[in-house]
Amino acid sequence: MSKKLTVAVVGATGAVGREMLKTLHDRQFPATAVRAFASARSAGSKVPFGETELTVQELREDVFEGIDIAIFSAGGGTSETFAPHAAHAGCVVVDNSSQWRMDDRCPLVVPEVNPDALAGHNGIIANPNCSTIQMLVALKPIYDAVGIRRVVVSTYQAVSGTGQKGLEELERQTRDLFNLREPECKVYPYRIAFNVLPHIDVFLDNDYTKEEMKMTNETVKIFNDPSVKVTATCVRVPVFFGHAESVNVETVKKMTAKECRILLSQAPGVKVFDNPREKLYPMPAYIAGDDETYVGRIREDESIENGLNMWVVADNVRKGAALNAVQIAEELLRRDLVRVKDRNVFMA
Ligand code: A2P
Repeated sequence: MSKKLTVAVVGATGAVGREMLKTLHDRQFPATAVRAFASARSAGSKVPFGETELTVQELREDVFEGIDIAIFSAGGGTSETFAPHAAHAGCVVVDNSSQWRMDDRCPLVVPEVNPDALAGHNGIIANPNCSTIQMLVALKPIYDAVGIRRVVVSTYQAVSGTGQKGLEELERQTRDLFNLREPECKVYPYRIAFNVLPHIDVFLDNDYTKEEMKMTNETVKIFNDPSVKVTATCVRVPVFFGHAESVNVETVKKMTAKECRILLSQAPGVKVFDNPREKLYPMPAYIAGDDETYVGRIREDESIENGLNMWVVADNVRKGAALNAVQIAEELLRRDLVRVKDRNVFMA
């Protein structure tokens, strides 16, 4: 009989939380028990887990005793309040919010990129931003092979990145417009249906959005290399699932488009889908639900000496959130790291 392993999903009623449960089940994560938590509003409701259902329990500070791993996707405020209590109870948290990402006490991990960073964890591990994850899965082999000086990225991000309420807003506004009703804006400042918003998360003092600076700062932390410069423009588009990114990379040494195609076709977690003559390139509508990060439109940037352009697409709810978090949990098991060394680190 193998050792007992209890896993919890916090935010289990949300868009990402549901996908986390599905991912745990699909990948046959070796949990002996799975528990679902959300706010008091959802206590007693059911969420699917494979062919069965789990009863949602109210999240409280004292629920983590006996839980080995808790995967959180319930917003930054919930993570801020509850993750320290989980770690204090000896439960390892994998947190999908931005709350702990830039905290020096917390590793920020993409398993294909920097799994070794898990070794230093103290009970809270951060899952990076969805747009950062897919970009770095594609960039890591290039970084290792020829070095990266600078990245210019523009994103085309799906509304599921805003959670269930983002999905509902696009659906409702689309219906309103087809019925000649004025669309109501509850989630985004302007209508998202048949529109494009150059605004994700809040604006900061430097006039970038927080989402854009996440891509800049998280890349440096994950590569552990402040010499890699990233400048981003993050855009919300009327797509339900799947983020796309136009990524321009200036490398340290030259890499041809052909070399890049071969390199990425052998890279973990990457699928190259790139044949212009056959009109082959990845698109959100066709890859939603897949685990891989798709790369196409690989070209040499003819305006600089060592540059590449590419188009990177992944399911933001899956690889951008739920799958990456479950892969972190799998890596913790593989490395025998499902324990909290010092339970007081986050209780100061
Ligand atoms: P609930 O459904 O009870 O509000 P999404 O990002 O798709 O909107 O999902 C957010 C998730 O976070 C939901 O499962 C939501 O639960 C959960 N959540 C929000 N606030 C809290 C809280 N204070 N405690 C626990 N879970 C919360």
